[in-house]
Amino acid sequence: MPSPTGFFRQQHELVCDGVPLAAIAAAEGTPVYVYSAAVLRDRYRAIDEAFRGYPHAIHYALKANSTLAVARLLRELGSAADANSIWEIEIARRAGFQPQDIVFTGVGKSPAELECAVALGVKAINVESAGELARIEAIASRLGTVARVAVRVNPDIDAKSHPHISTGLNINKFGLPLDRATELFDTIRKRPVLKLVAVHLHVGSQITSLEPLRHSAAAASELSTALLSEGFPLEYVDVGGGLGIAYDDRQPPAIEEYIAAVVAEVRGTNLPIVVEPGRAVAGPAGALLARVTDIKPRGADTEFAIIDAGMTELIRPALYNAYHRIEPVTARAAHERLYEIVGPVCESSDVVGRDRRLPQLEVGDLVAIRDTGAYGAVMASNYNRRPLPPEVLVDNGSWRVIRRRQTVDDQLSLES
Ligand code: LLP
Repeated sequence: MPSPTGFFRQQHELVCDGVPLAAIAAAEGTPVYVYSAAVLRDRYRAIDEAFRGYPHAIHYALKANSTLAVARLLRELGSAADANSIWEIEIARRAGFQPQDIVFTGVGKSPAELECAVALGVKAINVESAGELARIEAIASRLGTVARVAVRVNPDIDAKSHPHISTGLNINKFGLPLDRATELFDTIRKRPVLKLVAVHLHVGSQITSLEPLRHSAAAASELSTALLSEGFPLEYVDVGGGLGIAYDDRQPPAIEEYIAAVVAEVRGTNLPIVVEPGRAVAGPAGALLARVTDIKPRGADTEFAIIDAGMTELIRPALYNAYHRIEPVTARAAHERLYEIVGPVCESSDVVGRDRRLPQLEVGDLVAIRDTGAYGAVMASNYNRRPLPPEVLVDNGSWRVIRRRQTVDDQLSLES
């Protein structure tokens, strides 16, 4: 039987791919992010295999986790990249992605970003507005090249996710409604320096029902069919990312189910499919380890458990009221108590877990905050001068630091 991967218990100890998390925390200190290479591989391959041979490209959304070692690991599996800034493009390049493996999305791309993307000749610049298209055209003319563009269409679909991470409604700043997009298609047709290679849709993140994803793929497919019949040289259909993961007991659609639905919708175009998953690949592959630094009463029957990680290391709970499982690294046979698990940052919103029932905690205990491989470390900040936490990759029974802990000197090296 193959040994289990990811985070699980061996007797009382929580391990990552067989490596005790307590050993990593003892060596590197806390807070520390730990990633399972095996889970990253499993999740990537599950998406890849779910296409069952239908032509596709997985453009991993670097915004979820772009630590170089993670980006490289995914590239080695055959992944392409979705970059959201000139800096993510640079990281992608340093991780070994070729320009033709990078799609470039983003609201408000700066002149420098557009210049870089056109000059590199990325697979597509996903265009967000008429003004942006005109700026790309000017750059391409000046450089004497043809810019490959996709138009990001906002289909007015409710992703039914948290409002902060829903992007596909017309009230959201992303993309263009269909009537406006049509004007861009007309412009592109008339400009020899612009080539329309795809339509792009992305309606939100942490989507936990199939319908918005299916609906969005259907809209992309329908539009692509119409554009093909008008003679546009489309090369693929980009349905974006957004598949949710199971942060709690609720199960989002399985990867296989999601990909099968997308393929079913897009197959009629005969075009390859581009997906841009971020969370679905990296989310379950990570845990944030923290230590309990203090315990104090909170009302009659609850206590605050103050840990050494907070909104500076993991902002998702404070920003989106997001739920992450929190569990003791060493299971203890103790009575359960009700805890408000909070960070050390001086903000009342610095709550990592509300109303959690856990076996009684003691100062010094280690806890693991689960499913933090995506939108965890990448969203960390230096508020309160807290250093960015280190990141560790567990691979094949051993582990290594893939980003060391920031120091005060690192922070001050930017200052004069
Ligand atoms: N493609 C585009 C154009 C995107 O904007 C995003 C995410 C993705 C792909 C990847 O989406 P995913 O497969 O990871 O859902 N910080 C938030 C999530 C923001 C997502 C932004 N865009 C969070 O922590 O939940």
